[in-house]
Amino acid sequence: MTPTPHAPAAPAYLQIEDVVKEFDGYKAVNHVSLEITKGEIFALLGSSGCGKTTLLRMLAGFETPTSGRIVLNGQDLAGMPPYERPINMMFQSYALFPHLTVWDNIAFGLKRDGLPRDQIAERVETMLKLVQLGKYARRKPHQLSGGQQQRVALARSLAKRPQLMLLDEPLGALDKKLREETQIELVNIIEEVGVTCVMVTHDQEEAMTMASRIAVMSEGRILQVGPPGEIYETPATRFVADFIGNVNLMDGVVSADEPDHVVIDCADCRHYVGHGITGTKGMAVGVALRPEKIQLTREAPGDEFNRARGKVKDIAYFGSFTVYHLALPSGAVLKVSRSNVQRHRDHELTWGDDVWAHWSRSAHVVLTQ
Ligand SMILES: Nc1ncnc2c1ncn2[C@@H]1O[C@H](COP(=O)(O)OP(=O)(O)O)[C@@H](O)[C@H]1O
Ligand SMILES: [Mg+2]
Repeated sequence: MTPTPHAPAAPAYLQIEDVVKEFDGYKAVNHVSLEITKGEIFALLGSSGCGKTTLLRMLAGFETPTSGRIVLNGQDLAGMPPYERPINMMFQSYALFPHLTVWDNIAFGLKRDGLPRDQIAERVETMLKLVQLGKYARRKPHQLSGGQQQRVALARSLAKRPQLMLLDEPLGALDKKLREETQIELVNIIEEVGVTCVMVTHDQEEAMTMASRIAVMSEGRILQVGPPGEIYETPATRFVADFIGNVNLMDGVVSADEPDHVVIDCADCRHYVGHGITGTKGMAVGVALRPEKIQLTREAPGDEFNRARGKVKDIAYFGSFTVYHLALPSGAVLKVSRSNVQRHRDHELTWGDDVWAHWSRSAHVVLTQ
């Protein structure tokens, strides 16, 4: 049997339908609609104050939407109190009980729910194994590292076997290196349990590393939803292009508009883009170019398109890569990154050098909004 074209995607497990939350007439969450699939790790990504926590609190039942619907597994959650929802929320400050051992911290919610003792013991043991803290069962939280405490908090949340896990800035309390390690551990644990997860973060690397899909939020609205690679490689708007990763944004005008290519004239260069766009000749557009998609050479490239002359103005060494700032003729700055594959490089570029930057016909993203 041949698959039907346009076969429906996996049915949505969590549906957020046109949800609004107003505080004193201010829309903290502004007509948000999202569909999340079972087993997904879904990230809400946006800067502080954009409404992420408010949206999460509505899922958990701590806030009531001003309008709109939230449906989990076919059931409308309106009017259902937090403790009846098959949802567990792990907070920004995951506050373990300091006077309780790891074991008792994990058992706490189960005891409160009145689960039989043998079942509690079984679940706690399973969780301890899952987060690899079996040896630490009798310790108190202050005798653990930050990352270990984080894993206890996760075990405590998962022990209740929620259908939906909500994580609000789960790793905010950890320092950078530990955070990166814990991100991967968390994903492995969440995937092993198979629980659907909505996480909130303002850290784009965290969203990229952990999530299967990301929703970029700004001022209460969702700007774009997609897998990490799609958000990074094909941002839909200037805001998303600029918000995710490093980017060079240029203003230009479409000077040739063909089905298979367009030419966009900017102050310092002419872009030849190897695909058509939804636009017309004479239209003002933005061009986004990621620093790692640009090459540097001392000799002028043969092609008159997709190149710019510049003078090295700043060099920032990051260890695994180096970022060069080139001053272009118009005065604009072009950021170019090169990975440091070799330890010593001959003919290293230095301040004041005149160089050519060039890039391929598929390096650009043309932005019409
Ligand atoms: N209970 C509340 N009362 C009034 N305003 C609130 C309340 N909760 C959040 N807000 C406001 O809503 C906006 C979004 O907040 P929040 O959801 O916490 O953002 P984020 O988690 O993305 O940082 C902010 O402007 C915040 O001040
Ligand atoms: Mg928040």
